[in-house]
Formats: sequence, structure tokens, C-alpha cells
Amino acid sequence: MSSCSRATAVAHPNIALVKYWGKHDEDLVLPLADSLSMTLDVFPTTTTVRLTPHRDHDTLLLDGVPATDEVLHRVVAFLTLLRTRTGRTAPAVVETHNTVPVGAGLASSAAGFAALALAAATAYGADLSAPGLSRLARRGSGSACRSVFGGFVWWHAAHPDDPDPDRASYAEPLPDVRLDLAMIVVMLHTGAKPTSSRDAMRRTVRTSPLFPDWIAATREDVPAMRACLEDGDLERAGAIAERNALGMHATMESATPPVVYRTAASHRLLDHVRALRDRGEQTWATMDAGPNVKVLCPAAEAPRIAAELAAVSGCPTVVAHPGPAAALTTTGRS
Ligand code: DP6
Repeated sequence: MSSCSRATAVAHPNIALVKYWGKHDEDLVLPLADSLSMTLDVFPTTTTVRLTPHRDHDTLLLDGVPATDEVLHRVVAFLTLLRTRTGRTAPAVVETHNTVPVGAGLASSAAGFAALALAAATAYGADLSAPGLSRLARRGSGSACRSVFGGFVWWHAAHPDDPDPDRASYAEPLPDVRLDLAMIVVMLHTGAKPTSSRDAMRRTVRTSPLFPDWIAATREDVPAMRACLEDGDLERAGAIAERNALGMHATMESATPPVVYRTAASHRLLDHVRALRDRGEQTWATMDAGPNVKVLCPAAEAPRIAAELAAVSGCPTVVAHPGPAAALTTTGRS
């Protein structure tokens, strides 16, 4: 890939059906278990990276507003990694436009770092394969490695004894999925979460007595979920996804001090999803590091179920389907 100084990329969030929660290497962002996700066709993030050799620092604009805090720190660290790899020194201006609320457990960092990885790698002239791009995105935010790909995606955890764990941990798309799945995002709360997922994850691994059992179950859930996706077994896929997500929240809530993302509104909606199932609907819930609830259901039923969930919760719903891989939209010289 030749250097082009300026590149814009778009990427979509992904929601895990079997969650990533826990690292064994914080610097390399290496997970303790494999995970499996669906990239969405809603809420894209668009990021432009422009190299600015005449400047002496990186600048990050989030929806036009300069970032100064932890987010800027993570982006500068990411660009520094890329500069070290490519031997380039120029700082960059990074401009990001989100269409999803940031920090609300709606995977904005996954879409954000996937778009940044593609735009920055292109601007700095890093020659990356698709797995290489996914490894790079992982260094920004673990779940971002899955947003590099569209559809259903499997993230491999490196074995702790692997001589090159950085190389061994990457995502890849699952080719043979026979499930016509939709995911309804119920926007219960769009404000930023009280505890970042990075801090919450660390605290959970270190202090939750439930964590060892959940991570052991997750290691079994990944191959089981893969088989469900290939066999088109929605009932079993939904059951595994819901149990895995509720288990993850149980580990967080049993940490010291507890990490509680679920609100009364989340619990009401979780109850409602179970009530729908009792009524014969195929609906299962999943949740991430925030109070919002996502509901898995057959694609054909999604508009009707989304309307009911909006009425019950009094909150907007968005129906998502499997979405595209991260893609470059423009490249050029600044
Ligand atoms: C609950 O990828 O945001 O969404 O690697 O520390 O940046 P860092 O964490 P992040 O964690 C996402 C956790 C999750 C589950 C998942 O997406 O698998």
C-alpha cells in the first residue's frame, strides 16, 4: 500500500453473541477467550485521518469537538503504534463522526477504532492484510477487531502459551451462516456509562468470584454458537446469546466494588423479552457495557416486535441486520 496522506473510512458497530469480557494482556489487548459477533448495518462511524507534518501533535475531533481526555490519549497511543511500525513521524488530524451515542454500550468504540485503523493505516501507508488490519484495530479497542469484517465474525484469542500471541489474535468472518437474524436495539439510555468498559473489565477479572466459571462457559459457547449459525438453529443461538450476556452482567455485578450497568428499565425489558417468549415469540436479549437492551429475533418478525418493544419501553427502537465490513470511502493527498 503506498502512502496517501489522507484517507476516510467507514465502519459499523458489532454486537457480540458470545461476549469478550476479560483480557490476559492489557497492552496487547489479548482476550481470555474467543468471541463471536454480528456487525450491524446501522450506526456507522466515519473517520478521516490527515497527516500534518508541519504540526507537532495529534488532534482528535469528535463530531467537530476537540477531544482532550482519555479518548485522545487512546487515539494518540494508537497513532504512535502505527508510526513506529511504518517509520513515519508526522502527527495527524483525526476527524470522527458518529451516528450512535458514544459510551452507552452501543459499540461506538468498536466502529470507531475499526474506522480509525483502516483510515490511519492507509494514510500512513501500512501494508496490511485483512487479519493484520483486525490485529491493529484490536490494539485500539478489543471489540474493534470484529468490526473490520461484515456479517458474523469470530475473534480468536491467542493461547497464553503462543510464542507470538499478538499475531495469533485476530478476527475473521464466518462464511456459512444460515440464520436470518435481526437485532432490535432498544435505546433506553443514550448518556455515557458511569464506568468505562476497560475499567469494568479489569475489575471484574480481578475481583468477581463468578468470573472463572463464566469464562469457562464462554469457551464452550463459542463453538456451540458457531454450530448454531451454520445449522440455522435460531432457538439455540438465542438461548446461548442470552445466557452468555446475562452471565457476563452477573460477573460484573459480583465484582468489588460492583459494576452495575443494568437499570430498572433494562430489567423491565429483559422481563418483557422473557414474557414474549412465553407467548411463543422467538426473542432473546443481549446487553453490553451499558443499560441498553438488544433483542434477537427472526428478521421477518423484527418490525412488529420492534414496534411492541417501543410501545412497552416508551423508547426508540432501531432494527439492525448483518452489516458490511469496514471500507475506505476516499483517499488522497492532503
Ligand atoms: C461488553 O472492546 O470496549 O461490548 O478492549 O478494553 O477497549 P477494550 O473493551 P471493549 O469491550 C467490549 C465489551 C463488550 C462485549 C463485546 O463486545 O464482546
